[in-house]
Amino acid sequence: MRGPGDREPGVRPSCGSGTRVAFGGRAGAGAVLVTVKGHGRHHADMPAASRRTSAGAHGKDAMHSITPAVPPVFRCPVCAEPLERDDRTFGCVNAHRFDIAREGYVNLLLAQHRHSKDPGYSKEMIAGRRDFFDAGHYQKLADGVAETIASYLPADGPGVVVDAGCGEGYYLRRLRHLLADRSREEQTLLCGMDISKHGVRVAAKRDPKGLYAVAGTYRMPVLTDQVDILLTHFSPVSAADFRRVVKPGGIVLVGGPAEGHLYAFKELLYDTPAKHEVSDLLGTEPGFELIGTHSIRYPLSLHGPGQVANLLLMTPFYWSVGDETRAKLAAMDHLDTEVDVIVHAYRRTTTGQEPNEAGREAAEEQGEGMGGVEDW
Ligand SMILES: C[S@@+](CC[C@H](N)C(=O)[O-])C[C@H]1O[C@@H](n2cnc3c(N)ncnc32)[C@H](O)[C@@H]1O
Ligand SMILES: [Zn+2]
Repeated sequence: MRGPGDREPGVRPSCGSGTRVAFGGRAGAGAVLVTVKGHGRHHADMPAASRRTSAGAHGKDAMHSITPAVPPVFRCPVCAEPLERDDRTFGCVNAHRFDIAREGYVNLLLAQHRHSKDPGYSKEMIAGRRDFFDAGHYQKLADGVAETIASYLPADGPGVVVDAGCGEGYYLRRLRHLLADRSREEQTLLCGMDISKHGVRVAAKRDPKGLYAVAGTYRMPVLTDQVDILLTHFSPVSAADFRRVVKPGGIVLVGGPAEGHLYAFKELLYDTPAKHEVSDLLGTEPGFELIGTHSIRYPLSLHGPGQVANLLLMTPFYWSVGDETRAKLAAMDHLDTEVDVIVHAYRRTTTGQEPNEAGREAAEEQGEGMGGVEDW
């Protein structure tokens, strides 16, 4: 097996004229490096006409902290008209209203689009992820993703970032942290959506300045051509809806496992674990052009009771391992493995057709719950 030390830490071999961005410490053991292939995008500034007053934040503080230059983001899941916010609800011109929960999120997932009583990641899985993130194991990863997002943000003017399948919101919080450090937070609306209400609840509670909704990735309640950067990180990919909501020139970032990701952990679960095959998920889809790949790699050392078991909760292996393996992992308090993640960056090149109902159903059937890069 290849160990984490077999290659220069954090560096993924790349061809072409890539640049390498280092952050999170010195280059060397434990440092993380992001390899960037291709070049960042610079799409045109938002037209002045679209700079309307924001309804896109919740809570009094949040209403004041989001710049008025950010346009509304949500659309009504019933009639597709823009959703405006008041103190307690989001509502459209056709009087469809959606209550804002105590934690600050809104549920825009209609009952007829819910395929189970409690869709998406369960309360237990979200709690496991929260504990794992809180222990800092993925901070370098999240900061790498945040750095990647920031590199594609419009140079000036407002920006809208949507995390589709945001889970408990860790990646958006790390992005907010980075933007605050660079005095860019006020210009940027961070919006997270997930089909799991447990995830969205935690995300909204922990990021009162963000905009959060329970919503599926295959029917995003987001206005057409409204998003500057859409992230889907280890979550489902919906080419049709991404094409619709991302503005021309905007960016879709698809983060997922590269071949060495958590390999030593997989060895605990399977006799001969497979290396993950990286695929360019949107490369063959109309309306997307691959403009860069960003690799984030570093050795990961877990210590302490419950951390290895929490790692299982972070992965789709959770569904496939038996009780014996679970017990073995629960008893472990140390593991050395490797984070090896690749983020594909696509520019939205053309305006796509909105999918019809049959197209949506087909995409959903194929992908819901385990679709896209989550399937590893
Ligand atoms: C592996 S987790 C990744 C969460 C987050 N992006 C992260 O990296 O921490 C996958 C997430 O996708 C969500 N999910 C699954 N199917 C979905 C769908 N059809 N629409 C939106 N979210 C979905 C799950 O609820 C879960 O939170
Ligand atoms: Zn409506």
